[in-house]
Amino acid sequence: MTKTVLLTGGLGFIGSHTYVALVEAGYRVIILDDLSNAKASVQTRLAQITQQNEVRFYQGSVLDRGLLDRIFKQEDVTAVIHFAAKKAVGESTTDPIGYFETNISGLLNLLQAMKAAEVWNLVFSSSATVYGDATKVPTPEDSPLSSTNPYGYTKLAGEQILNQAAMADPWVFGILRYFNPVGAHPSGLIGEDPQDIPNNLVPYIAKVATGELSALQVFGDDYPTRDGTGERDYVHVMDLARGHVLSLGALLANGTSHTVNLGTGRAYSVLEVADAYEKASGRAVPRIIKPRRAGDVAISQADVTRAGQLLNFEARFDIHDMCQSSWHWISTGAQDAASDEPSGQ
Ligand code: UD1
Repeated sequence: MTKTVLLTGGLGFIGSHTYVALVEAGYRVIILDDLSNAKASVQTRLAQITQQNEVRFYQGSVLDRGLLDRIFKQEDVTAVIHFAAKKAVGESTTDPIGYFETNISGLLNLLQAMKAAEVWNLVFSSSATVYGDATKVPTPEDSPLSSTNPYGYTKLAGEQILNQAAMADPWVFGILRYFNPVGAHPSGLIGEDPQDIPNNLVPYIAKVATGELSALQVFGDDYPTRDGTGERDYVHVMDLARGHVLSLGALLANGTSHTVNLGTGRAYSVLEVADAYEKASGRAVPRIIKPRRAGDVAISQADVTRAGQLLNFEARFDIHDMCQSSWHWISTGAQDAASDEPSGQ
């Protein structure tokens, strides 16, 4: 029987790619999104990619308990993948309460509605940020956890809430700790679409490649890394999306919870990513060396052993695929052409 999965934040960057992967894996998928950081027109793109007539979409917030109850009443939901959250570190330091409300109250509200509907299967978007400045690199899941900013705190708290909730009720969850998701769907129809000047490296480089921004500011070249710039484990969003399908499949099949890193197990420096983007785009990416960005760590790299063992997950795409797909998405201008016509229920 076809299983129904609810994606909160399903029109966002990772949510939209996961939508496609789930439909391709045979799930019936419904989306809840408040459009605070996504465009309604992504629905049309998703329908196009998956060759469906329409996307089942509810416009609203995870903070709206009435709406959640209505969705669980109307739809025969087997599992939820919870993407809906705020994710900008800098913003979280100036608006911690806003972050606690969306990320922690939102999770609690969702858990209460799921409990009332007796839906116990949940995949939760966590982040490598829960490792703080990791003592061991590549970093395995049983490493010490910490947070250095309100955003990181909400992810750590979310994990702890799930672990403790599962002591009282029959929750089965997959906690997925994303490393650095980049890239886009090969169709060029969906991708990352930051509203303002991007904080993250690859979206910023993309705007330098198009000429919209003049140069990449490299935040620090005096780290103890290969070339002195920060190294990160960039993972293609298509791999990440498949990781969600594997996580969901595993928790539904085994009835046991897991906490797993999703990365490639390889790290690239800022300069290496800029070089790869130049190659993929055929455009120059000028760089200016700047001081370190507060809160950045030298290296973030996943130990992917558990992902392989528990989920049979292994990344298929490398940094060149990531840059190529990002450039395809950016250079076709598909993201700008997207019009906004909300069609929520
Ligand atoms: C950032 C967040 C992290 C979050 C993740 C989500 C911070 C400190 N960390 O990770 O908590 O989970 O995004 O995607 O914001 N860089 C530049 N110039 C730029 C932008 C970035 O040199 O204009 C460098 C950074 O110093 C870092 C690397 O590029 O070494 C990657 O940065 P970014 O894409 O922002 O990701 P993280 O900092 O790893």
